Amino acid sequence: MARIMLYVSCLFAVALAKTLDLDGDVAKLSESNVQFSIDLYKKLIADPSTENIMFSPVSVAAAMAMTHLGAKGDTANQIDEVFRFNKLEGKFHSAFGELHGLLLDKTAENVTIKSSNRVFANDQLKVLEDYKNALTVYGAQVDSLDFAKNPEKSVESINNWISEKTDGKIPSMLAKDSVDGNTALVIANALYFRGNWHSKFSEQQTEQRAFYVSHYTVVKTPFMFQRGKFRYGYVEELTLQIVELPYAGKEYSMYVLLPENFDLKKVEANLNPENLTRWISEIGYRTVDITLPKFKLEESLNLHEVLPKLGVTDVFDQSKADLSGLAKKPNLNVDQILHKAVLEVNEEGSVAAAATTVRIVARSLDIRPEFVANHPFLWAIRHEGTGLVLFMGRLQRPEGPLMNHDEF
Ligand SMILES: *[C@@H]1O[C@H](CO)[C@@H](O)[C@H](O)[C@H]1NC(C)=O
Ligand SMILES: *[C@@H]1O[C@H](CO)[C@@H](O)[C@H](O)[C@H]1NC(C)=O
Repeated sequence: MARIMLYVSCLFAVALAKTLDLDGDVAKLSESNVQFSIDLYKKLIADPSTENIMFSPVSVAAAMAMTHLGAKGDTANQIDEVFRFNKLEGKFHSAFGELHGLLLDKTAENVTIKSSNRVFANDQLKVLEDYKNALTVYGAQVDSLDFAKNPEKSVESINNWISEKTDGKIPSMLAKDSVDGNTALVIANALYFRGNWHSKFSEQQTEQRAFYVSHYTVVKTPFMFQRGKFRYGYVEELTLQIVELPYAGKEYSMYVLLPENFDLKKVEANLNPENLTRWISEIGYRTVDITLPKFKLEESLNLHEVLPKLGVTDVFDQSKADLSGLAKKPNLNVDQILHKAVLEVNEEGSVAAAATTVRIVARSLDIRPEFVANHPFLWAIRHEGTGLVLFMGRLQRPEGPLMNHDEF
């Protein structure tokens, strides 16, 4: 059952594209997002120990898109392919920016949605101006932090920012020891959603009932009830019931996909963007008696373990990663991508939050100061044990003809 809740976020994009008259690029971005959502979902269920699942495809995509902005060659191509950014060719980033401005930053009386992006940089790293400028599409600024001398304080700053942007729902994203002098950048997205139901459940009708984890095992949990007109559909082959629960304003909805015969595996096997879109487009208004558990989910994912299975590999590989669009140092690679998501569903509505952080490290102490002796300098050779100076001098002018700088 809990698995079903994935569709909250997965269908988010479908619902958005449907209710708003979006231009072609944003609609394509939405399609890419649904495809990626399903791909990631299927990778996660491939691990038989997985029970509940929850993630925010939009949050993961935002953090990876900001990483992609600084990636080149195959490092960028692999992200393009897995996240289907290539569907939009060169217009991906501007479409994402448009989506961000249009849909992911709204505060209305009954629905709030906010997606926030930021890049935290080691203050010893020279982040390229081009990258900083490109980030403005995502509304992201770059904050410099002293990762080397104040690692714990730096983590605190990042965590405080995420906590603030998720209204306290994700209070401690990164572990205390997450950064050090070799950490170059932490790219972060935080997503927050709060929506009241268009039609609320009455607390008087909530009661303890059995949730069937399987045919034979149950969990006693509070269930909400209401009778009302909802968009409802039924997919015969899968004995699959689908109901849409709109939030106030009807711009956002939660879809619940419930196989009557407990065979969620069969639904998952038939899950692809075309089927999903068809199943949802075929639902229509009916009077429905809805019984839904009140529930909370809190899930964490190590995406650095999952994304390579989908085909994102070079960005993690010390010898292959090309993140040269981020900073001058060529030897940067991603070594950790964390994702956390929480959801609470009750009679009033839902509150959901997610955060994604992409940690980029510099290989072999790369963030040492640059020392380019391309102008006059003093030098000395001394014996270390005694301090005895064997030679000393100054290089004012190396051998070779003098020429004008412009001729060079
Ligand atoms: C919207 O919010 C107002 C004020 O908080 C509340 O009185 C009203 O019932 C809400 N409407 C819906 C549909 O949730
Ligand atoms: C889902 O899609 C596959 C591939 O297009 C198709 O063979 C299958 O019949 C579809 N299933 C349902 C239930 O629509």
